Amino acid sequence: MVEKLYAADIEGFFDNSRDKLVIAVDLDVTSETGFMHLVRDLVQSVFKIRQLDTEEDFFAAGLDSLQAIQLSRALLVSLEKAGIKVSKEAAESRVIYAHPTVTQLAAYAFSLVSANHRQGSPTNGSGVMLDRRPYAVHSLTSTTGALGSYLLDFTLKCSNVSKVICFNRAVNGLERQTVVSTSQGLSTDFSRAEFLHVNLAEPGLGLVPEVYSRLADEVDRVIHNAWPVNFNMSVASFEPHVRGVRHLVDFSAQAARKTVPITFISTIGTIEKWTTPEVLVPKKALPDWSLAAIGYGQSKLVSSTILDHSTKVSGVPSVIVRIGQVVGPRGKKGKWNSQEWLPSLVRSSVYLGLLPDSLSTFSDMGWAPVEDIANVVLEVSGVTSLWTVEEITGYIHAFNPKVTEWSSLIPILREFYGERIREVVSLEEWIDALDKSQVHPVGMDNNPAVKLLDTYRSAAEGAKMGFKAVPLAITRTESNSFTMRQMEEVSPQLMRNWCEQWQF
Ligand SMILES: NC(=O)c1ccc[n+]([C@@H]2O[C@H](COP(=O)([O-])OP(=O)(O)OC[C@H]3O[C@@H](n4cnc5c(N)ncnc54)[C@H](OP(=O)(O)O)[C@@H]3O)[C@@H](O)[C@H]2O)c1
Repeated sequence: MVEKLYAADIEGFFDNSRDKLVIAVDLDVTSETGFMHLVRDLVQSVFKIRQLDTEEDFFAAGLDSLQAIQLSRALLVSLEKAGIKVSKEAAESRVIYAHPTVTQLAAYAFSLVSANHRQGSPTNGSGVMLDRRPYAVHSLTSTTGALGSYLLDFTLKCSNVSKVICFNRAVNGLERQTVVSTSQGLSTDFSRAEFLHVNLAEPGLGLVPEVYSRLADEVDRVIHNAWPVNFNMSVASFEPHVRGVRHLVDFSAQAARKTVPITFISTIGTIEKWTTPEVLVPKKALPDWSLAAIGYGQSKLVSSTILDHSTKVSGVPSVIVRIGQVVGPRGKKGKWNSQEWLPSLVRSSVYLGLLPDSLSTFSDMGWAPVEDIANVVLEVSGVTSLWTVEEITGYIHAFNPKVTEWSSLIPILREFYGERIREVVSLEEWIDALDKSQVHPVGMDNNPAVKLLDTYRSAAEGAKMGFKAVPLAITRTESNSFTMRQMEEVSPQLMRNWCEQWQF
């Protein structure tokens, strides 16, 4: 009653100071699903008592009229922040009464976004027109690997992408892609993709000059994903790949009429030896050679430095994504490559009948499913988000902020493999047994962890020396990426999914 009497005054009060009193969330206006999750966050920010189900009535759950006004204001400022122009009336509190569930409110708000896009180009929060062609062309290096195939799939599903140019080392890119994407349960509709055989180590990417200049004219964004994921190679052996980064800068700089940013897929291996766990690794260039422990990380570090320099000297913008551990898929199809360190550890554990009780420093590397990392990369690259070219710059940390406890996964592994895993032992005992198993040569398929013995040893030694996971600053990634904000930890169910896919 009192609220009703003073409703006009309250509305006026919020009007005069709305930006100070309500918090705008970053709305993902590029997809209706992403948008709905963020509207739920918005409702949650106002209705602090508990998380509402998407179909639950706000008022039945206890939202009061003051909160309805607050919610309408929060919606208005969030839409404005996302560059959507909305009349004040379109976001009045009566709108909340007319759309009293997350689903209904999201559908209503998304219709405002669509109407806005039909009327003109979007702007960013500061009212600046976004430098975004409605139908962008993206080039991706290596679409046939684990992460690359998801990057390709998700990019092609983006309605505002007209074409994806796939730079692969394979001569028969389309054929290989069809095989890889089929095995991962991804789409094989490549009608908007062009597959090209390139050699990044060669000037002009090994393409004929006519094709090179056509592409330099056509491409809007470059995502550089190709790299040998090899922890034994010295930095000198990565030289052709470092040269490839330089050649991609030339390619980007060639586009005279526009700015073509480069997203570089880097790794937390570039800051592996961060020595102050109490200080977060900042999201900025850290060209300190001693921070990268092995050739792989060093090669990414030197490449990042080339990109930083190119931004300064040639104005070619780049965003460098330091990625943590990419793990298997959330999806039912696909498979985490069984040659990698964790699948190999599981396979050899089944062979040895022993499972380690700890993964030492390896359990704490921000394990993120491949779909999640692909989504983060595309969000921070302005492919599935509305980031301007100016915003696609600097350093981003992409990893799962929710730490996976190995101890939480052991029971599901024991249950899945039953008597084939007889005992859980310390990591040192497991390494010892693995070492001894070499005297009975078996196929690498049955005991693949033998190849990575040194890698497991260094993890165990690192733990003894007190090495901890590198603490990464994430605020910027979280604000630029819806996926990072929502990422769930690796659950025992997900581990079971991978076991079913491996079929060890
Ligand atoms: N997996 C992780 O946990 C992780 C963590 C941090 C960063 N990263 C980075 O993520 C990116 C993708 O890795 P991924 O996990 O998807 O590994 P992946 O499945 O091994 O994919 C690597 C891709 O790079 C290509 N490649 C490998 N060696 C090459 C060479 N000598 N010349 C040209 N291309 C080559 C491969 O081409 P083919 O398909 O023709 O073999 C493949 O498509 C890499 O840049 C990697 O450094 C991965």
